[in-house]
Amino acid sequence: MPTRTYRICFLGFGNVNRTLLRLLEQKRGELNERYDLAWQLTGVASRRLGWIAAPQGLDAETIADGWKPGSANVRNSIEDWLGDARPDVLFEATSLNVANGQPAVDYLRAGLEHGAHVISANKGPVVHAFRELTALAGQKGKRYLFEAAVMDGAPIFSLFRENLPAVELHAFYGILNSTTNVILTGVEQGLSFRQSLGKAQEIGVAETDPSHDVEGWDAAVKVAALITVLMGEPFPPQRVEREGIGSLTGDAVRQARAGGRPYKLVCRARRSAGRIIASVKPEQVPATDPMAQISGTSSIITFETDIFPALTITETNPGVYTTAYGMLADFIRAVRTQA
Ligand code: HSE
Repeated sequence: MPTRTYRICFLGFGNVNRTLLRLLEQKRGELNERYDLAWQLTGVASRRLGWIAAPQGLDAETIADGWKPGSANVRNSIEDWLGDARPDVLFEATSLNVANGQPAVDYLRAGLEHGAHVISANKGPVVHAFRELTALAGQKGKRYLFEAAVMDGAPIFSLFRENLPAVELHAFYGILNSTTNVILTGVEQGLSFRQSLGKAQEIGVAETDPSHDVEGWDAAVKVAALITVLMGEPFPPQRVEREGIGSLTGDAVRQARAGGRPYKLVCRARRSAGRIIASVKPEQVPATDPMAQISGTSSIITFETDIFPALTITETNPGVYTTAYGMLADFIRAVRTQA
């Protein structure tokens, strides 16, 4: 098959999309040889840079830290930017807006209207606009994919979509927020909450506003996203019963671990008598429970289905590369299944 070159653009240029750019560079040969695909970066947009379009292409070195784009490349709106950068694939990784998913929902809509596949690491649009964006993608013969939105790119959405046809999901539970898990692990080891949060920020897993992690919002949005997509019921994050880890004291966390029942920020969802109930809250789990072994940035989820009584995925020590990988995998899926 002849190699096809896709124009790609990044919307949001923080940790995730920067790492994705490095990963795309690293995998350039493999993408070419195994999947007959090549890419050219024609646009980057962020709060700091503005709407930068470069139809002739940009490379990773050009846009390294501290880069100041020439005014000829700056556009005034997303529409002008899309019109000049003409992406075939738009990678969106802007900050989470729990309340309504904006402005990411508008960005993804504009990307699809323009005729690009949209690949997003953002959970906000999944809970606030999954049906609308999926329908729009279908109309345009494009894909809206978001594997990186939950569990850092481990295959969850694609697992159900591609490998578990006709399976009915009854319930799931697990640990889905890395930052609070890093904090609890750090506090168990004698650090303060603040020092442990600093560790999570250093690793790059904390949200731009870390109170979203600490208060359980990030986890609640992930739970809502999983319910919305995998259980087929639009479920606003506000419907998730939510309690963060802010009310736990360091002593309580250390004593719980010493007593063999450590605290974890546990996510749960279950369909019962036709109704879905969901929660995110600190729970003391028995030391024998696999959740007790999940430390640092690791996460775990167990799915209860009509066919598999319990199917568990554990992800050990993911970093921002695994999130970026989720987007890379979506890129390959999108262009290989293009209508
Ligand atoms: N803030 C999130 C976490 C990032 O800590 O899990 C990954 O979604």
